[in-house]
Amino acid sequence: MRGRITTFWSVRGGSGSTLLSVCYALELSKHFPDEVILVDLSEALPHIHRLFDLSLQQDTTKLRGMLEKEPFSTSVLDNHLYKRRGLNIMLPCADLYEFTKFDTEHYSALLKILAGRFRYVIADTNAGIYFSSTCASLKNADTINIIIRSDRHSLMSAKTVLEFITSSWQIPLDRLRAVVNCTVEGSPDTELVSRVLGIPSEEVRYNSRLKAEFDACRLPPCPEEILKLVYSDTGRPISDSKQKPLVQLNRHGGGGRNWVLSTRTK
Ligand SMILES: Nc1ncnc2c1ncn2[C@@H]1O[C@H](COP(=O)(O)OP(=O)(O)OP(=O)(O)O)[C@@H](O)[C@H]1O
Ligand SMILES: [Mg+2]
Repeated sequence: MRGRITTFWSVRGGSGSTLLSVCYALELSKHFPDEVILVDLSEALPHIHRLFDLSLQQDTTKLRGMLEKEPFSTSVLDNHLYKRRGLNIMLPCADLYEFTKFDTEHYSALLKILAGRFRYVIADTNAGIYFSSTCASLKNADTINIIIRSDRHSLMSAKTVLEFITSSWQIPLDRLRAVVNCTVEGSPDTELVSRVLGIPSEEVRYNSRLKAEFDACRLPPCPEEILKLVYSDTGRPISDSKQKPLVQLNRHGGGGRNWVLSTRTK
């Protein structure tokens, strides 16, 4: 069975796609140990390896060679795979000198291989629409989380780019979900975002602890809103940081906007 590919992507850089994709993947891997892979598709300027204290491999010749011709060699793939906290991590990116050697077909082949091997493939994708990895990630994803900063410029840029990717790249609108992320303090209007973009919209509030940990290159705690997204996507109960099921969230109404915490189960 093919695994699900979930992309975290933004139109403008610095919107929180790395932070949220890491939290989402770590939370998901608590429920599905060994079955989740987080792939860093921030071609050219990857960040995920720093959070997990990993080094990028400088030579990607064998990886590219493998992606160009079948049958795929698992040993070459395994060379680029790491595991931390039950989460598989793939670092296909190298650096500014290597990334130009990859094109959309390489990344598409990679995502297909990963989806053939893992139940969930979570991709942290470059902002904008200017990289091969972005094109591959958006075209192959089952779910695209478009991370939007909570200001009007970001919303209007998202609208412009969404129109482009749905018309020129034929990305179906129903694969998209907006996640309004407050990288600065303020209260987002998710209903406005939903109305303007024509897709469901969730929010992640400003969280100073999250920011402090992430900016210090430490793995951040999972924000409550991401716990809810994992629940919404998988139906798995919300866990606490020690991986024990704590509460069950019941969803009421559409659009993921009304959540009710049921009583503690233990
Ligand atoms: N909900 C939040 N609350 C507070 N700070 C946040 C939140 N989400 C993200 N940030 C902060 O916003 C900044 C950008 O986050 P991040 O690096 O994840 O964005 P990105 O979209 O991956 O950026 P890039 O385009 O550079 O890859 C970081 O300083 C991070 O700590
Ligand atoms: Mg990033």
